[in-house]
Amino acid sequence: MPRAVTVTYAVWPTPAQVAAAAADLFASSATSAVNSRGLARIAISGGTTPKAMFALLADRGQPYFARVPWEKLQLFWVDERTVPPEHKDSNYGMTKAAMLDHVPLPAANIHRIEGELDPEVASSRYEAEIRTNFRLEGAETPTFDLVLLGMGDDGHTASLFPHTEAIHELGRIAVANRVEKMDTWRVTLTWPVINQAREVAFLIEGAGKRDILRDVLLGSYDPETKPSQLIRPASGRLSFLLDAAAAAALPTPSGEAPPYSASLELKR
Ligand code: 6PG
Repeated sequence: MPRAVTVTYAVWPTPAQVAAAAADLFASSATSAVNSRGLARIAISGGTTPKAMFALLADRGQPYFARVPWEKLQLFWVDERTVPPEHKDSNYGMTKAAMLDHVPLPAANIHRIEGELDPEVASSRYEAEIRTNFRLEGAETPTFDLVLLGMGDDGHTASLFPHTEAIHELGRIAVANRVEKMDTWRVTLTWPVINQAREVAFLIEGAGKRDILRDVLLGSYDPETKPSQLIRPASGRLSFLLDAAAAAALPTPSGEAPPYSASLELKR
């Protein structure tokens, strides 16, 4: 039985405003983690949606750069494509160009997934890197301070694609996942690890995501075809940062135009 979760969704008129809200969340989450525990561990996604957020975080003219405790931030990836870092499809490569090349984040604090390696080797090395950084023992698993996710128009998140092995992985921290329909392999954090994070947020934009988002939140529970439904954080809280186009099929507080926020209970 899936865990009951309160979903809060905040809706903005434009993707630029979603990026600003995401940059604000990133900065606040990093700051509160450092205040509580002396360091912040954040796992980010790839794809296209987070790029504008990264650019805002790196922009010294914007109010976010100065708020991020870069020296005390440990940056991880939720998933990676099996390509080298300089490849156009590399999630690490995208983040490096949009943010890492422009911020004082120590190289030792950047924990990328080595997409250039054999996916099984890359996932094991990434798992070992996480174990070392979190000083995990035995079957202990990591608690990230913030995990930022996206959603594909097929309902995948991270690299947890419909009808793939990784959906059923409960014991590992990170795995290699064969994605037959794309004839490729991906390396991804597993959903139990994502659900253990102190805070989990989806960044989703565009009309192309409207129907799948409605189905994931309001449709029947079927994670085999909608893996994003596996994301039910242990904290009981899950947030979505959305633009109006993506949120168009979700319940709207009576007569409110974006920006607004609303919530709904995921019971089943
Ligand atoms: C990836 C991502 C993936 C992404 C979704 C949404 O490697 O592709 O981590 O899970 O978040 O595919 O991608 P867009 O933001 O490009 O729509």
